[in-house]
Amino acid sequence: MPAVLPPVSFDPARGVAELRTPNSLYALRVDADGSPRHLYWGPPLDRAALDTLPAPHSPARSSFEAEAAADELAPQSGARFGPAGLQVRFADGTRGAQWRPADHRITGGELRILLTDRHFPLAAELCYRVRPDSDVIERWTELRHTGGPGDGPITVDRLDSASWALPPLSDYRISHLVGGWNSEFQLLRDRLPVAETVLTSRRGLTGHHAGPWLALDDGSATEEHGEVWSTTLAWSGSWRITVHRDPVGRTTWTGGFGHEGLSWTLHPGERLTTPIFAGLHTSHGFGAASRAWHDHVRTHVLPDAAHDRPVVYNSWEATHFDVDHRGQLLLARRAAALGAELFVLDDGWFGARRHDRAGLGDWTPHPGAFPDGLRPLADEVHRLGMAFGLWVEPEMVNRDSDLYRAHPDWVVHSPTRTATELRHQLVLNFARPEVEAWALRTLDRLVRDNGVDWLKWDANRAFTEAAWPGRPDPDRLWIDHTRAVYRIMDRLRADHPHLRIEACAGGGGRVDLGILARTDQAWTSDNTDPVDRIAIQHGYSQLFPAATMAAWITDSPNGATGRATPLRFRAHVAMAGVLGLGGDLTAWSEDELAEAADLVARYKRIRPLVQRGRQYRLSAPDGVTAVHYAAADGAEHAVLVWRPATRFGHQPPALRLPALDAHTDYLDADTGRRYSGAVLRHRGIDLDLPSGDYASRLIHLRRHRP
Ligand code: DGJ
Repeated sequence: MPAVLPPVSFDPARGVAELRTPNSLYALRVDADGSPRHLYWGPPLDRAALDTLPAPHSPARSSFEAEAAADELAPQSGARFGPAGLQVRFADGTRGAQWRPADHRITGGELRILLTDRHFPLAAELCYRVRPDSDVIERWTELRHTGGPGDGPITVDRLDSASWALPPLSDYRISHLVGGWNSEFQLLRDRLPVAETVLTSRRGLTGHHAGPWLALDDGSATEEHGEVWSTTLAWSGSWRITVHRDPVGRTTWTGGFGHEGLSWTLHPGERLTTPIFAGLHTSHGFGAASRAWHDHVRTHVLPDAAHDRPVVYNSWEATHFDVDHRGQLLLARRAAALGAELFVLDDGWFGARRHDRAGLGDWTPHPGAFPDGLRPLADEVHRLGMAFGLWVEPEMVNRDSDLYRAHPDWVVHSPTRTATELRHQLVLNFARPEVEAWALRTLDRLVRDNGVDWLKWDANRAFTEAAWPGRPDPDRLWIDHTRAVYRIMDRLRADHPHLRIEACAGGGGRVDLGILARTDQAWTSDNTDPVDRIAIQHGYSQLFPAATMAAWITDSPNGATGRATPLRFRAHVAMAGVLGLGGDLTAWSEDELAEAADLVARYKRIRPLVQRGRQYRLSAPDGVTAVHYAAADGAEHAVLVWRPATRFGHQPPALRLPALDAHTDYLDADTGRRYSGAVLRHRGIDLDLPSGDYASRLIHLRRHRP
């Protein structure tokens, strides 16, 4: 019997630490010079095999070369010339750290490598956490100024959460997400250049244009085969990840909060803790990597993954800023009749907000639109059997607002620079304690006084001219703003246990594991065109589970693209996530309303599979795209198939369903037709898509119990 190895161990004699997950091993070694270096990350190895690995550290072969070793966090000293994960400056101008031989601490599934500088009062802890039911390794760093009153401050130019390394591979390929407003989460998969590749956001938000997630492989991995290493940073402000493929074939990457040029000051006794940078290895392709991320996010990140995400009706695309009690009530009645479970009143309900140029920051109902406040609407929505949700954008302010007039100094700004307005708004500096306190008070009152069950928390611009006049360490705002947002969300949830929060930043501009730790789902994109959504949702699913991916059925032609598509196609695409409705229901015909009600009812039957099942992407998002959701116990399955454009004489091949059990029969839950699991796995199901563009199908299978 092979020995059962503990999940976390450190052997001082070998200097080797091992982190074991159900399907992987991560190992590092602390060398005689005190530096923790990467040893191994891949399928499990026993100790004897691990000990046969070559030493991670060998000295530079010439006076021009870097030493051959991958650091767990490169400290900007020694013959290291790649991107440093830790960059510090001491009062006398000395840069970088040199460690004493390290100590360590293990508590449950957590390992800390304790490092202290040989000369200066600086201590770092490299932290690792594993859990028995996840292949994800969570890593972060804590930095401390250990000096006394006589010691000068330490400047931190970079403090990454972790650095990672790949074993030598024949080639390297990177997968990552890029995009823009209305086109978030586009998956790119490219050969990794021999260079430093920087993925970053300098915007104070996670970003539409890039996301702090990547996957690396040797160029041969597919959805279901091949080794994949994947990491993601749990942070909702600016961030930077640098991937370094060097000319002699090594690939490492390092990442953390903040972008280049920022620096933070540590005074004696102060500490700086990074967000989590999580990573996982799988031997079974990109699909398995995504499923492992989905499981991890549901089990260890989301505050409450067990509840069904409600079918929302959101009024934004129907009314934009033209909201009032009567109009919203009309929509709410129609939405309830279609099966909506949550009604969200979007932008435009407060202050002087009749357009995007005024009122932001004044969180009291517009007296003309809601003469008796919001309570009557909330009560009516509740009477209709729905929860009541409210749009807010607490971090932002219009210049034309009472809040700005009262507190012009509350915005992120520099007195000597013109403050750039984006969407006519400025960013409030939540790093200032009085601003954080105001936001919490205001939101708490809104929720308490108006029977609010749900907040859609939006943020519609990036930071610019970001300064903090009068503050000696102004770059702290890039960290402390985000932390204040987290704290407010956490506090609101603790004080209002029924409250749910949706993350939004002009669509999917702030979706990451940091924000998802205190929200329930994210508004994926303002682009609700179902054809564009197929690619957006494909990218989103690389990391995030469908239970967090809000998707609405909206009007046709689509407001963003002008494309006209059938209701059924729009619904089938939106059913791949958390289905919602977002159209002007007052303009829908009786037939459309009846069809929509039927589609919502069908979604509710497959909802547990979509929101809690295992997701298999059966094809790339072009031609015919199919996604399969399987219940954890294998008893039920939902397959969504979309074909945006028809081609004459071209029949899509039968669709194989490899996640089915070959030894089981299945019944089509809608038609009662019986299928053999072996046939569906090995030969596939005929799609029988209707002719014409925008064809789609929902296949719902149940295990047959004779
Ligand atoms: C951007 C969001 O993504 C939209 O859904 C909507 O809430 C608008 N903001 C409102 O201004």
